[in-house]
Amino acid sequence: MTDLGADGADGGPVRHIPVMLDEVLGSLCPVPGEVHVDGTFGAGGYTRAILETGASVVAIDRDPDAIAGGRDLAETYSGRLQLVQGRFSQLDEIARQCGHASVDGVVLDIGVSSMQIDEGGRGFSFQKDGPLDMRMAQSGISAADVVNLAEQSVLTRVLGIYGEEKRASQIARAIVKRREAKPFADTLDLANLVESTVGRKHSDRIHPATRTFQALRVFVNQELEELGAALFAAERILKPGGRLTVVTFHSLEDRMVKRFLADRAGGIGGSRHLPEVATHAPVFVQKKRGAILASEAEAQINPRSRSAKLRTGERTAEAAWTPDFSIFGLPDLDLVRAVRTGR
Ligand SMILES: C[S@@+](CC[C@H](N)C(=O)[O-])C[C@H]1O[C@@H](n2cnc3c(N)ncnc32)[C@H](O)[C@@H]1O
Repeated sequence: MTDLGADGADGGPVRHIPVMLDEVLGSLCPVPGEVHVDGTFGAGGYTRAILETGASVVAIDRDPDAIAGGRDLAETYSGRLQLVQGRFSQLDEIARQCGHASVDGVVLDIGVSSMQIDEGGRGFSFQKDGPLDMRMAQSGISAADVVNLAEQSVLTRVLGIYGEEKRASQIARAIVKRREAKPFADTLDLANLVESTVGRKHSDRIHPATRTFQALRVFVNQELEELGAALFAAERILKPGGRLTVVTFHSLEDRMVKRFLADRAGGIGGSRHLPEVATHAPVFVQKKRGAILASEAEAQINPRSRSAKLRTGERTAEAAWTPDFSIFGLPDLDLVRAVRTGR
């Protein structure tokens, strides 16, 4: 595994340790002359390893801090690394703008980086005091906007859908009651409210606010919509034989990737809503069915890798299918988005 100086020994922020790097390289199989898209540049762990094989990389991240942190790498590998601030839902357009009509590989490492979690000022962690922000792109609506402005029924849906929080309505009710007296401004304030609302047992493996924070982060950054659109974008830009590799960290996202690959490999016969799609030939082959997990050795070194699941597919020569979000079996995201914009 590539060492990115993760010990934070200088007292500075801990660098992100790339998860399942060997497995990612094993499924992308980059070789000199190829072009790969890293849709989640982060601290550049995957990108650096791909560059070291001699392949070129178009690396994307929506977080301006991640892009700024990658400048030295872009200089070191100038000519082979194009670093772009943007959203991976547009990875096909970004690759084309970088001069590539098609690419040999696409990798996505879904979620937040250690730098984002560890930097209290970004507001992602319920264990660090900071503004209730959570915006990866550092623009748009923040987590504070959601908890202070959304109607109770919307909050309940956000927590239930995006956090799979069973006590969503109880927590939403408590949030609305509390904000009438004083709006939420920081992370610990919200974490404490959730803990006092649902309580905490000794046997609980996770902090009671874990799912609330996950829900707000996923909602604020439209992570499920982004992932779905990115999978369709990868389908459009990968050349025949190109490899798609996705690492996810929670069940909602893994289910989306699993359904996408099963659908596109013909496993579930296309969309129920677009029956004509079912007659299309498969656009992906799943050489390895099922998810690949991190080794026990890696999990010992990097506990974050314990929840990682890697799925991979190889593009066939067939034309891309029509994108159809219904294959993911998600609740009506448009409804939630409509409520978000107040329309
Ligand atoms: C888990 S980290 C990636 C770490 C990286 N693989 C490495 O080895 O350093 C995820 C990164 O993806 C970025 N990200 C999340 N959603 C994104 C999106 N929709 N578009 C672009 N970047 C995104 C985050 O800002 C974060 O920097």
